[in-house]
Amino acid sequence: MSKLDELHARSLADPESFWAEAAEEIHWLRRWDRVLDDSRAPLVRWFPGGELNTAWNALDRHVEAGLGERLALIYDSPVTGSAARFSYGELRDRVAQLAGALRRLGVEKGDRVLVYMPMVPESVMAMLACARIGAVHSVVFGGFAAEELAKRIDDARPRVVLAASCGIEPGRIVEYKPLLDGALALCRAKPERCVVLQRPESRAELDPARDLDWNDAVSGATPADCVPVAATDPLYILYTSGTTGVPKGVVRDNGGHAVALCWSMRNVYGVEPGEVYWAASDIGWVVGHSYIVYAPLLHGCTSILYEGKPVGTPDAAAFWRVCAEHSVETLFTAPTALRAIKREDPEAALPARHDLSRFRTLFLAGERADPDTVAWCEGALGVPVIDHWWQTETGWPVAANCMGIEPQPVKRGSPTRVVPGYDVRVLDDEGAEVGPGETGNIVLRLPLPPGCLPTLWNDDAGFRAAYLERFPGFYQTGDAGHADEDGYLWIMSRTDDIINVAGHRLSTGRLEEVLAGHPDVAECAVFGAADELKGQVPVGLLVLKAGCATDPGEVVRQGIGLVREQVGPVASFKQACVVERLPKTRSGKVLRGAMRRIADGEDGPVPPTIDDPAILDEIRSALRGLGLAGQDAGS
Ligand code: COA
Ligand code: AMP
Repeated sequence: MSKLDELHARSLADPESFWAEAAEEIHWLRRWDRVLDDSRAPLVRWFPGGELNTAWNALDRHVEAGLGERLALIYDSPVTGSAARFSYGELRDRVAQLAGALRRLGVEKGDRVLVYMPMVPESVMAMLACARIGAVHSVVFGGFAAEELAKRIDDARPRVVLAASCGIEPGRIVEYKPLLDGALALCRAKPERCVVLQRPESRAELDPARDLDWNDAVSGATPADCVPVAATDPLYILYTSGTTGVPKGVVRDNGGHAVALCWSMRNVYGVEPGEVYWAASDIGWVVGHSYIVYAPLLHGCTSILYEGKPVGTPDAAAFWRVCAEHSVETLFTAPTALRAIKREDPEAALPARHDLSRFRTLFLAGERADPDTVAWCEGALGVPVIDHWWQTETGWPVAANCMGIEPQPVKRGSPTRVVPGYDVRVLDDEGAEVGPGETGNIVLRLPLPPGCLPTLWNDDAGFRAAYLERFPGFYQTGDAGHADEDGYLWIMSRTDDIINVAGHRLSTGRLEEVLAGHPDVAECAVFGAADELKGQVPVGLLVLKAGCATDPGEVVRQGIGLVREQVGPVASFKQACVVERLPKTRSGKVLRGAMRRIADGEDGPVPPTIDDPAILDEIRSALRGLGLAGQDAGS
């Protein structure tokens, strides 16, 4: 039996001893009573009775171990032309003072703090300051609009909001404060205070009754000590798209999370403490939570916080410049970022102009790493390129080529093998397991390992309904694919109405909800069409109300504007057109899959349940008007 097989088998045969051993890497204030409590199965808890503090484990314990001078965080911001470095000692002190400021504002253990901030060091400090005093942070990605922010505020009910005056996108400043004010006007659960970091690029107007300048809030605050929290207490809530317009509040606990993330750094990523690890993502996504903030710091690494893009800040060599300048050993990003780089540097001339001698491994996730992109990266960089698969809910990789255990031969297009701790199965729609090569629903056998979501925020019933009921005994990932004869997984598509745009997860249902709110729209459908850069982009088809007097082109423009205003620019919703009717089944279900296949130029059979097959030609011609449905558009 190979080392990987042996470890994997052991993790499933005796998860309690496997994870108890991994938990020795963490500093506990009180040892757990049990490793796994499944008395409320299918809901389970890891390390009940245990007490720890995540911020202590991420910062203080390294300082106590004499590593206070080691670099914890490097901030590199081509969009502002600035950079900063924080040692573990400095970061610990800044976090403790911010935690003291939160305390002074009345934030206590268990209170929620919403963080709506760009990629600045204060965002990382904000998350760790919450962890320090046992408050639960909820970070909302800056590309979301006021309405999305308001929904998250109403669900999390934060006592305090931490925000910045602006974010910086290439060529424009995104004013965060008006978005925050808009959200606060919309939401019911008004926070008591908003603390605003004034960035010099654009200062925000503060409401003296509610808002506080960040510097004033922090100045003179007494540094707060780490408070003990239960292993099972929530560390954070991170909202992610579900199939409806209502985002799901994924909860992460303290104990299992710290154990699993620490374990993953050494075993999945093959990284040692003291090394420089860079996840080029955003703190608003799970990759940012897990692999910009918590895992690298828990493991004693130096983490990079990059406020920039793969291209245009200033060019397609930006990633290689950062890797060389900061001696990055491991880089993790989304395939879309590499596709953007490849488009500008197809011959891969730029990496060679930088000293990448320390660079060892490139990890890709967020969407399937297409074989072309993997091949280009391998040629350009000469290092292993590892696709790995996971999701917001799991918090850490489910399938990967575990570089710290026993690297496997790469099969481009596959995230390789199941990571120890997870039991992945492929089921048909009736719940029977299918054989190698057969496509089915990808599920995880319960219990989920530590680090995965224990539930949804205040919504055990929603957690069960969304993930556990469809296949009893299993967690439904929402992904479809197969395992091959060698046990490699192939994750090929979603089984629901979620699309993946530039590594970001979007609900087509939410976009439809916004478009349907336009007074001239009778009905609409949104689906994901293949896109060379972003993997998928949303495409909308609108049916206008009878007698609509507005010009159809104007309705389309307004619809696109509504999505940007209500969901945010991150939806990348730029393509829509008006059609006479939508393809439906005889029972009235909209055939989004058929439209997607037409948009992607795939020849598929006419769906047998379709009400009127002639409609597909109308759709094809409308999509050709958008430049979709095959290269011979318009022919
Ligand atoms: N705040 C405000 N707006 C934001 C934002 C933020 N934090 N992040 C993105 N946006 C805006 C962008 O400015 C863009 O607006 P536009 O329509 O006015 O151009 C829109 O949201 C779409 O952004 P994005 O998807 O990033 O597309 P892009 O065309 O600007 O850039 C890539 C394309 C490939 C370079 C970019 O998507 C990228 O770097 N992707 C990496 C993905 C990633 O890290 N995913 C995380 C999972 S690992
Ligand atoms: P998110 O929760 O936003 O991280 O999105 C998770 C979803 O992105 C997964 O359920 C998959 O649909 C997709 N995804 C992420 N990584 C991969 C990958 N390596 N291969 C295929 N799909 C992926």
